[in-house]
Amino acid sequence: MPSIAIVGAGLIGRSWATVFARGGWDVRLTDPSAETLAAAPGLIRRALEELAEYQLVEDVDAAAARVSVASSPAEAVQGVDFVQENGPEDLEAKRRIFAELDAAAPPHAILASSTSAIVASLFTEELKGRARCLVAHPVNPPHLVPIVELCGAPWTAPEVIETARRFYESVGQAPITVHREIEGFVLNRLQVALLSEAFRLVGEGIVSPTDLDKTVAEGLGLRWSFMGPFQTIELNAPGGIPDYCARYTPFFRRYMADRPSATVWDQANIDRVMAAWNRSPSREEIAERTAWRDRRLTALKAHKKSQPDT
Ligand SMILES: NC(=O)c1ccc[n+]([C@@H]2O[C@H](COP(=O)([O-])OP(=O)(O)OC[C@H]3O[C@@H](n4cnc5c(N)ncnc54)[C@H](O)[C@@H]3O)[C@@H](O)[C@H]2O)c1
Repeated sequence: MPSIAIVGAGLIGRSWATVFARGGWDVRLTDPSAETLAAAPGLIRRALEELAEYQLVEDVDAAAARVSVASSPAEAVQGVDFVQENGPEDLEAKRRIFAELDAAAPPHAILASSTSAIVASLFTEELKGRARCLVAHPVNPPHLVPIVELCGAPWTAPEVIETARRFYESVGQAPITVHREIEGFVLNRLQVALLSEAFRLVGEGIVSPTDLDKTVAEGLGLRWSFMGPFQTIELNAPGGIPDYCARYTPFFRRYMADRPSATVWDQANIDRVMAAWNRSPSREEIAERTAWRDRRLTALKAHKKSQPDT
């Protein structure tokens, strides 16, 4: 089995450790915060136990035993095949961390960053091993949401992307390839399109935020939990996608002339949305809701696993 170093053991790093330990890999974790590093193995075990409640991991003890901690990135990467970086979302930090990883990791090891929005060319250009670096952007938390967006810099070797793709598939993730660097990759560009319209509709008083959420949770989202927008529209007209476009694009064209502008993100509109939302949960309440979300996601993951793809 290959082995992985997880560099940065915060929210995302711990979840990646859960993914790879569940998948049978040896996992070495590191984080500059001694407190974070000390807490990580226990939190990973708890995540594995929650997965086991839905038969999503076979042997919790064996998976947890595959996780060890290292006191520095240089120590963590000794002998590994793959590195997943999950440090702060800050360009200078990514540059420093990648320089250290490139100097210390074995030559064959692939170096992947979990960055949400910083393209790899911005922090790998000067590296000797820049051909082995890429972005592998997960969604929080990757042990429950399998998508991972793979996006190389112009100098990333194609076989590095292919090998990374195989690694993620082998541990149950769902990688996609983004062929060219673009801000926000794919997932966050889709998300921002939806959020911008949501902030416009609520800001203009056309719908309440609760009813807008219902439109996704009880409408669009039900299909989207197992099929994408292209698969969806193919079934929304008897003649498939060309028929759908012939029927509905006149409205879509009018919409494009009137789509939300950047002003939906002005503070005045955010204030309007917050007034309509009318809630300000404490950190404890947010943590409780997050645990609830993760239980629902685990149940959904188990359900999806039980269903045939076609
Ligand atoms: N939280 C999300 O929803 C989400 C989703 C996708 C991607 N990401 C990306 O994942 C990365 C980590 O995000 P997070 O949410 O886990 O943040 P986090 O704050 O929970 O964790 C970051 C960790 O990095 C550690 N760290 C600080 N300096 C470091 C260094 N020099 N080397 C290694 N580790 C260092 C911190 O101690 C901390 O434990 C970011 O790049 C973020 O954009 C986050």
